Amino acid sequence: MAEQKLLVKREGDFHYPIYFENDFSALAQAVREEGFSGRKICIVTDSHVAPLYYEAVENALKEVSSEVFSFIFEAGEKNKNLNTVQGLYQTLIEHEMDRKGLLVALGGGVVGDLTGFGAATYLRGIDFIQVPTTLLAQVDSSVGGKTGVDFLQYKNMVGAFHQPRLVYMNMSTLHTLPEREFACGMGEILKTGLICDGEFFRFVCRNETPIHAQDLEILSRMIRRCCEIKAGVVERDPKEQGERALLNLGHTVGHAVEKLKDFQLLHGQCVGVGLIAAAFLSMSRELLTAEEYEEIRKGCDSFHLPLTVDSLHAEDVLAATKKDKKMEAGHIKFILMDGIGKSFIDKTITDEELLRAIQEILV
Ligand SMILES: NC(=O)c1ccc[n+]([C@@H]2O[C@H](COP(=O)([O-])OP(=O)(O)OC[C@H]3O[C@@H](n4cnc5c(N)ncnc54)[C@H](O)[C@@H]3O)[C@@H](O)[C@H]2O)c1
Ligand SMILES: [Zn+2]
Repeated sequence: MAEQKLLVKREGDFHYPIYFENDFSALAQAVREEGFSGRKICIVTDSHVAPLYYEAVENALKEVSSEVFSFIFEAGEKNKNLNTVQGLYQTLIEHEMDRKGLLVALGGGVVGDLTGFGAATYLRGIDFIQVPTTLLAQVDSSVGGKTGVDFLQYKNMVGAFHQPRLVYMNMSTLHTLPEREFACGMGEILKTGLICDGEFFRFVCRNETPIHAQDLEILSRMIRRCCEIKAGVVERDPKEQGERALLNLGHTVGHAVEKLKDFQLLHGQCVGVGLIAAAFLSMSRELLTAEEYEEIRKGCDSFHLPLTVDSLHAEDVLAATKKDKKMEAGHIKFILMDGIGKSFIDKTITDEELLRAIQEILV
């Protein structure tokens, strides 16, 4: 089942395609269609993904490339840093990669963000394509053009906007993804529905069983719709001056929890509890009914996202929330829901309101 590709606006009249496939058999043709035949290619991937998928991707790309080589780094967020980027630059220089070279990000969001940043900066910018292999990368990080690495203790502190030239998803790679990582992607998917498509949120919740069974037909519909929504938001506001901020629903409290838990909980799990806090705040302002609040909790629960976190103090979470970079003139930019599938940016949330919502997610 080869799904039709989705076209995403890059700049001006330029678009890039997103492919939704169940194997790598159409990768070479996709690269050819974008005019990349005969280029030197560096596949960037990590130590978990390389043994699973490197060979298949290399074989596919050899059909269309003059030379394919690899840069493989140790998996994990702790390696999404400038040292790894330096290693990448070095490998590219050793292989005499010029401005016509192409980078291929094969992996999750860590590989995608780092490769995109390498591509944005090497020789002042070369082309790259995304081959995302985690659910989070497929629905979130591979679409939108944000690239970057962590610096000191700060996440995504150094980066650039650099759009990929092609995104190629082989959704069957999700079969090898650990369950906890799959749940993370579900956190972002539920978030996307809650922002602007209540019907999509309910479609996902209704299909809990086939999604858990990784039915490729349902996964493909879900991932595609999610990409469509994110791409639409990004197209209208590429540099996050307005609407794109809605994608931060659940992230204000989520980031605070992520930081205070010292990154023991995964990002999507923190977004899950962040969504509950945002839903509670919205209910307190009578924007959501008690039933809708319960529906959101149930949705998160059925996809194995935590509803609460332990061993944290509400005041610490509040303080960390206020330190998040999403502040404007001393006010927290908070995303609230106005019913399921509607959201807006609010700058009037008081500390007391936020504290009550934080208490709701702490045990
Ligand atoms: N650029 C953006 O817009 C954006 C958006 C959201 C998140 N992010 C970034 O994405 C990163 C998180 O991405 P992630 O959740 O994909 O994490 P990740 O890249 O660390 O992948 C999670 C784990 O799964 C492994 N893995 C990947 N694919 C696999 C597969 N198919 N089978 C088995 N194991 C596999 C990886 O090696 C890793 O151990 C963070 O750094 C975050 O900042 C970026
Ligand atoms: Zn996120």
